[in-house]
Amino acid sequence: MLGGSAALAATAGLRRAPAARAADRLGGGPATIRLAAQAGTVPLVGPPHPATLVWGYDGRIPGPEIRVRQGERLRVVLENRLPEETTIHWHGLRVPNAMDGVPHLTQDPVPPGGTFAYEFDVEDAGTYWYHPHVRGAEQVARGLCGALIVEEREPPPTIDRDVTWVLGDWRLQEDAQLAGGFGNRMDAGMAGRIGNTVTVNGRVPEEPFAVRAGERIRLRLVNAATARIFGLVFEGHAPLVVALNGHPVQPHAPGDGRVVLGPGERADLVLDMTGRPGARARVLDTFYSRLEYRLLDLAYGPQPLRDRPQAAPVPALPANPLPEPELTRAERHAVVLGGGMMGRLDGARVDGRWLEPREMLRHGIAWTINGLAAAPGHHVHEPLAVLRRGASYVLALRNETAWWHPMHLHGHAFRILSRNGAPTSRREWGDTVLIPPRDSAEIAFVADNPGDWMFHCHVLEHQAAGMMGVVRVA
Ligand code: C2O
Ligand code: CU
Repeated sequence: MLGGSAALAATAGLRRAPAARAADRLGGGPATIRLAAQAGTVPLVGPPHPATLVWGYDGRIPGPEIRVRQGERLRVVLENRLPEETTIHWHGLRVPNAMDGVPHLTQDPVPPGGTFAYEFDVEDAGTYWYHPHVRGAEQVARGLCGALIVEEREPPPTIDRDVTWVLGDWRLQEDAQLAGGFGNRMDAGMAGRIGNTVTVNGRVPEEPFAVRAGERIRLRLVNAATARIFGLVFEGHAPLVVALNGHPVQPHAPGDGRVVLGPGERADLVLDMTGRPGARARVLDTFYSRLEYRLLDLAYGPQPLRDRPQAAPVPALPANPLPEPELTRAERHAVVLGGGMMGRLDGARVDGRWLEPREMLRHGIAWTINGLAAAPGHHVHEPLAVLRRGASYVLALRNETAWWHPMHLHGHAFRILSRNGAPTSRREWGDTVLIPPRDSAEIAFVADNPGDWMFHCHVLEHQAAGMMGVVRVA
């Protein structure tokens, strides 16, 4: 299918989403940003292909980039101009439960024509994003998403330019309109809705991304796809990862030379532009090795910014104020991910009822977490775990399926202690952990944010097909 998209993919430059800023501050109160979830037409692929009918915040893809400084209060009024209910979830931000945007669990869904005011203090700096939490497999696939950038209190030194790339993945028909069948059984039971057209900031990149020799760029990557995993390679360049899923890490070269991002994940890179004026370099996505393709080109302008790249080391970002889990006293919980095609289905508890595998499938349920599954359209069911407020926990996640799952916890940040039985060297913080098939990961956190929090797969078709549970902090 990507061959087709490459054919489709013959247009459009890289545009920067206009930023929504704390401009309309009145009387010392928080800045108010208004976002309308609404239909729009966007030249995703560009001429000669027609514009694509999408759903977007303010009708745009991606929605306005929200920028706020760490420690500020953010106020966003959502206006729903869609033909169905919606909400906004602030992915990765540790917000009070009532602001988390999960329908029926933390708020009533916002009806068509309705509004909802979200307001919270932003505690952590970093790269986050926002998206609806109602029927995400369709609403996000139709385009509802946007970046939320929380700037450090002191801007990190030596960075010349701060750039955001929101990566999108679309399943388009020949006429450049969205194919239907959101959350169909094949997608739901396998890899999710992998599309045929990849966009950067809402366009198939046709024009190269302009850079200058000697420049140091902070590149914020957001994977807003519902299912596609990216594995980006910057040919001829040596990006350093400085933050993962919002939170700083000691600057390091990505593992096997590529930056892997599951759905919902972010990475902040620092890229020194070490090429010569006039040079070109390809950015490739190599995640699905048989489908390697060129995402876009970096094109060096004729004028260098400076004669040679900066000698100053890439700055380590200041840590966020996260509570450190006490590992020796932490309570351990096993979390088993099950189901999917080519996997075993043993049945599941759904809304307090036991369903045999055949019944599960009839209800559109393909996945389980510890034998529990969420019924489609239902967010409320018995908690996977009840955690004591202030106590430390280790979740030992085991993926017993044949598919990748980016598991996402709301309301908290966790450390990733191990992957596939081996301790991680950086014990990075995150809100999402991508677990390969038949693999495992241990995460640890302090349950310090009271409320009922979603814990789900961020392949949104998996989430819709049951891979979603609630963790209660009481
Ligand atoms: Cu980004 Cu529960 O989601
Ligand atoms: Cu999944």
